Amino acid sequence: MKFSSKYFAAPMVGVSDTAFRIMCRKYGAGLTFTEMTYVASLARGIDKVKIDRRREKSVGIQLAGTNLEEIKSAVNFIDRKVDIYDYNLGCPVNKAQRQRVGAILMEDPKLVKKVLSKLVSSTNKPVFAKIRSGFKSSNINYKTIAKIAQDVGCSAVTIHPRTADKKRSGAIFWEHIRDLKDKLNIPVIANGDIFTPEDASYVSKYSNCDYVMLARAAARDPTIFKQCIDFDKKGKYKITDKISLSNEYLSLIEKYPVKFKVAKEHINYFIKYSEYKQITQKINKSKDIKELKSILKK
Ligand SMILES: Cc1cc2nc3c(=O)[nH]c(=O)nc-3n(C[C@H](O)[C@H](O)[C@H](O)COP(=O)(O)O)c2cc1C
Repeated sequence: MKFSSKYFAAPMVGVSDTAFRIMCRKYGAGLTFTEMTYVASLARGIDKVKIDRRREKSVGIQLAGTNLEEIKSAVNFIDRKVDIYDYNLGCPVNKAQRQRVGAILMEDPKLVKKVLSKLVSSTNKPVFAKIRSGFKSSNINYKTIAKIAQDVGCSAVTIHPRTADKKRSGAIFWEHIRDLKDKLNIPVIANGDIFTPEDASYVSKYSNCDYVMLARAAARDPTIFKQCIDFDKKGKYKITDKISLSNEYLSLIEKYPVKFKVAKEHINYFIKYSEYKQITQKINKSKDIKELKSILKK
């Protein structure tokens, strides 16, 4: 596996659409991921992730779902469009728990073994596993799950080092990344609370990880990848204007349409954490793309 940079764009439901992935790639992501995608829908020939193979280089799909036949059919359906598979063992939301997908599976190592083995044997492409420190604080079992992933032939493990019961806040254990890097022979991808190039550089050095995956920082600013690369090379980086980033996204969705709600959410991510944050209320109230565009005119 070769990547143009060590910084990867994380899978994010409602965020990792085609236009967003194209922007992440343009601004330096070595690998981008689709949002979590159910094998049940792919197996039925439903493609919601809309990868543009001519334009998207180095793109992975993230899968969820444990039906072994559906895993095989899903891979058959999507294989020629993707470079890599990621398997979701980290999603903490209640709906996922009820459906027995995501982080809850970390409580069932035997099932994890079956599912990952099936995925690995269904494709010639690399399979990654995305894990948490554990499902709950009373059972921190990332080493067991990561070792299973390695043993069945996965090519890398991403760890978001906090338990799923803490969702996306609360204590983060970057030492679990370092520990995993020490224990595994396959690459380890660090994820979790890495918001700036300085954070990325710190976590890389501290954990000795192979790659770094960014989620919220990328949603807020897809140029974060370039910032990280520049910081590694030159010790400094530039911040891109968020109005121009917003307009770039809006022009991309003319070709890769998304629901208006999704577009608005993206613009909010960009603007909310910038010097323009006072216009977020106007953005929230906007009714259509035309209105949104006029708010974003400088
Ligand atoms: C809006 C949103 C949607 C997410 N959707 C997914 C998903 O589909 N699959 C997944 O594995 N993780 C998902 N995550 C978790 C991220 O990939 C990542 O593991 C987590 O946010 C920690 O990284 P960060 O601190 O860089 O945000 C999502 C996170 C956010 C903020």
